[in-house]
Amino acid sequence: MRIDIITVLPELLKSPFEASILKRSIEKGLVEVHFHNLRDYTTNKYKTVDDYQFGGGAGMVMMIEPIDKCISKLQSQREYNEIIYMTPDGNRLNQQIANEISLKENIIILCGHYKGVDQRVRDNFITREISIGDYVLSGGELGAAVLCDTVIRLIPGVLNDETSALTDSFQDNLLAPPVYTRPAEYKGWKVPEILLSGNLPEIENWREQQAYKRTQERRPDLLDK
Ligand code: ADE
Repeated sequence: MRIDIITVLPELLKSPFEASILKRSIEKGLVEVHFHNLRDYTTNKYKTVDDYQFGGGAGMVMMIEPIDKCISKLQSQREYNEIIYMTPDGNRLNQQIANEISLKENIIILCGHYKGVDQRVRDNFITREISIGDYVLSGGELGAAVLCDTVIRLIPGVLNDETSALTDSFQDNLLAPPVYTRPAEYKGWKVPEILLSGNLPEIENWREQQAYKRTQERRPDLLDK
């Protein structure tokens, strides 16, 4: 998979890709991530990427021209399956959307700033708009990092234990069950007996029940899906 991220703040975005699973997935050649500084696509002396909004009102709007230049250059080099815009009024990111995006070969992620981008960018380039939650961030970069993290870990070969993404919370509309590790007893707090029994079918049964119970207590809305 190849991910091209268009941003005015590439330095804000780089560090998540320089550690742990994301770093290893890049080193293994399972994913390529490229950052494009929108200011490199401006034609004016001050490299401005935003301007006042027509009709008046507070807040600047990101201009269409640098975005067009950057996207068009990328599209001249390869075909893209998705051009995603990070915005608080997009579709709220969930596991299903992450699963869908993880199957794409080439995607572009555009990070918004200020009041957002000129609507004509959204109308003519963007194939999908994503929000990471009902709150407003200063820009789309942190949202893009969240999206990349959740998508990349689903790419086959990225996680060492292939089954571990499948048992994540949300993967089957259930939250994950509780987990324990050694020691089996600490300060008198014991691990549930069943997990020490070695009876794999019973353990699986227990985990399913716990996942269901946790979902019912914390996120009953998931069970309606
Ligand atoms: N940009 C600003 N707020 C955002 C959000 N909640 N999700 C995605 N991009 C954003």
